[in-house]
Amino acid sequence: MKITSDFLVIGSGIAGLSYALKVADRGTVAVVTKRDMSETATNLAQGGIAAVLSEHDSFDAHAEDTMVAGAFLSHEDVVRMVVESGPEAIRDLIDWGVEFTRGEDDNYDLTREGGHSHRRILHSKDITGREIERALVEAVRKHPNITLYENHIAIDLITEAKTANRQILPNRCLGAYVLDIPGNDVITFGARFTVLATGGAGKVYLYTCNPDVATGDGVAMAYRAGASIANMEFMQFHPTTLFHPHAKRFLISEAVRGEGAILKRRDGTAFMGEYHKLKDLAPRDVVARAIDNEMKVHGDDCVFLDITHKGPDYIKERFPNIYETCLSFGIDMTVDPLPVVPAAHYLCGGVVVDTWGETNIGNLFAIGETSCTGLHGANRLASNSLLEGVVYGNRAAIRCIERVTDHLPPFPSIEPWDCGSATCSDEEVVVAHNWDEIRRSMWNYVGIVRSNKRLVRALRRITMIQEEITDYYWDFLITSDLIELRNIATIAELIVRCALERHESRGLHYTIDYPDTDDGNWKRDTVVSKGL
Ligand code: SIN
Repeated sequence: MKITSDFLVIGSGIAGLSYALKVADRGTVAVVTKRDMSETATNLAQGGIAAVLSEHDSFDAHAEDTMVAGAFLSHEDVVRMVVESGPEAIRDLIDWGVEFTRGEDDNYDLTREGGHSHRRILHSKDITGREIERALVEAVRKHPNITLYENHIAIDLITEAKTANRQILPNRCLGAYVLDIPGNDVITFGARFTVLATGGAGKVYLYTCNPDVATGDGVAMAYRAGASIANMEFMQFHPTTLFHPHAKRFLISEAVRGEGAILKRRDGTAFMGEYHKLKDLAPRDVVARAIDNEMKVHGDDCVFLDITHKGPDYIKERFPNIYETCLSFGIDMTVDPLPVVPAAHYLCGGVVVDTWGETNIGNLFAIGETSCTGLHGANRLASNSLLEGVVYGNRAAIRCIERVTDHLPPFPSIEPWDCGSATCSDEEVVVAHNWDEIRRSMWNYVGIVRSNKRLVRALRRITMIQEEITDYYWDFLITSDLIELRNIATIAELIVRCALERHESRGLHYTIDYPDTDDGNWKRDTVVSKGL
């Protein structure tokens, strides 16, 4: 089966859906998403979206905070552009129906998070992402030019070079092969423009607050197609996720610390003052490393986040979702400090793109967490990710629309998917085992504090698993579990390779072998590619 459209969007979070809405009046749009529309990281975002909206704030201050958090690896031109696009991005969201929380004076309530020098985070209580996803999904469902393909998972990109089975420069993307999961059928999606908006890759680690869909599919597919990938060593660990056997690393928003919560040891002493002058509102990499250190030094399973001093009425009104969720696990945050641990949260690296979201493969774009735009550098400033998603959704749309007005060639013919002599697998246990082994190796050897020895050990294991996956991939009919396994193995390999390459510690990459930052040699991105 073959489906053609002008624009193919893979992923249904803030970046993909805002792009779809921006291009939909200019052509047909197919949105492919591997579960339900709203099963995205956007939907889980609690804190909010950063933008300069207060007269006390400035673009300079937001840019400076972003550069500092990013350990000065962020690209200054990109930072400036994104920060200055903030107010327009917020207007777009409001026009699409997003409702942000207002204060008593009826102005938007601006909260604070780590690394921000001003109050500049718009939020919808503590379910900002859910509110944004709701509004965007509603708008997308109403648009007659947009067709949604839920429960469809992309397998691989189709490029001219791949179709011709030889090197073609410049290469061009023609669409993607996609598995219709319930129909168990591989569909060829042909498109003039293909946009990767598949989100992040937290599932490559054993503990993550990301949704199950975060398997780095866009980055892995782009890498296999020959795109440049950068800065994969910079995986952000969120300092505070709920420590509870049944909580699956539920996020405790940084806004809780923004509103005054204090990190404490088991005996009740506050400790962040011993690590950074901004104490509990230090940049995220500093707080996550401090917690990791506290747990190791004191042999504790977790540390504690205390906001009880703000009183029950305030806590229930400001953080209703966090309050209710913790209560469902038997923890009343108005009375007791919350047990918290760090968990994998955000991939700062990704597919290298220009300031319009275009990759080094023609007509292939990457936006949102899938991309590496240069905004986040070595560590993302809190709440800059939703902002980046809308800004680049818009910019990629502008670039594609400019090209739509040219005389477009007819769709090239694309070979349908060939499953060869593959049969149904009777060894699903191999897939499950390999999933677990990759995630455990990454957590144990490629976590918050790294060393050469551990990285090499991880790479050895990942390489062995990749060999098994390759055999399995050719011998058995494809399933979504196998597609995701193949992708997390690629992501694990890329993270380790980038980490091994960087001989310094900077932002989220901390290694005991090179504990200092080395601006002379390493103030640059780590770029890897497979070749065509
Ligand atoms: C949070 O609410 O702490 C997450 C915000 C973010 O990661 O930007």
